[in-house]
Amino acid sequence: MSEDLLQLYPATGTRALEGLYLGHDLQARPGRDGVFVYSNFITSLDGRIALPGPGRNSHQVPPAIANRRDWRLFQELAAQADLLLTSARFFRQSADAEHQAHLPIGPQADYDDLRAWRVARGLKPQPDIAVFSVSLDIPLPAINHYADRKVFILTGEGADRHRVRRIQDGSHARMLPCGNGTRVDGRRLRTVLREQGYHCVYAIAGPSVLHTLAAGEALDRLYLTTVHKLLGGTRFDTLSWGPVLEPPPALPLRELYLDRAAPPGAGQTLAVYGD
Ligand SMILES: NC(=O)c1ccc[n+]([C@@H]2O[C@H](COP(=O)([O-])OP(=O)(O)OC[C@H]3O[C@@H](n4cnc5c(N)ncnc54)[C@H](OP(=O)(O)O)[C@@H]3O)[C@@H](O)[C@H]2O)c1
Repeated sequence: MSEDLLQLYPATGTRALEGLYLGHDLQARPGRDGVFVYSNFITSLDGRIALPGPGRNSHQVPPAIANRRDWRLFQELAAQADLLLTSARFFRQSADAEHQAHLPIGPQADYDDLRAWRVARGLKPQPDIAVFSVSLDIPLPAINHYADRKVFILTGEGADRHRVRRIQDGSHARMLPCGNGTRVDGRRLRTVLREQGYHCVYAIAGPSVLHTLAAGEALDRLYLTTVHKLLGGTRFDTLSWGPVLEPPPALPLRELYLDRAAPPGAGQTLAVYGD
């Protein structure tokens, strides 16, 4: 991981990759209302964040764009989180052993420093977890895998009672109703999370969750890695999925870096948008 990044905006020269996002010190950001919500994606030049995995229908981050340098930064962002926002899809794939990773912070030795960083700052060893779901089709063993963390299920007040009961009886997860119907309303989410005492909230789900946050003016910052490759494909996920956002949320550029080291022969740009 030794090759430095070139900082393009504001243009100030080279920067080490390790520690780049940790240095953003998100815990120190006050947030508009005491909550700071950030997200992170890796995309191809043609806007693909996920494609069908080989021999299956479910989508995954394309191996052609996934890389260790981006994953290190993903983990640095998680290290600063009090709460991760993820999706029921992740838990379903995890039960089928199709998921691409354990929820951060990763157990690998490469991230020992990040776990130590949290402890040194008086944070819990691992961030808590909140799972977006309409269906409440969430495998209980996948929830109970995270018995060492608080787990919340974010859903609507109209959620199916039998399914609510199944999760409450079979796991340590707590329901957090956050919308009038069966979906989470991004506008109510920040209030609910603040009431639960959360400050730094890292959204690591996909396009519908990002859309929910954007539609509810609930997203403060977006980290976006663009790998300099074209992937094509006709069945793919892109950053956001849902009705046209009106008005479109503006996320001004804060920082931009060029990483020539990964993936080999292509490189990637690391952009930070928003607050
Ligand atoms: N390249 C990247 O950086 C990146 C990042 C994240 C994800 N991905 C990929 O993108 C693909 C899609 O990820 P994903 O399925 O986790 O993303 P998602 O589209 O954000 O989440 C899907 C699930 O979350 C629940 N959900 C979404 N919005 C909701 C709302 N407003 N209220 C309640 N529940 C809501 C629903 O669960 P129920 O079905 O249970 O109702 C829905 O099926 C995956 O292949 C993933 O690997 C890529």
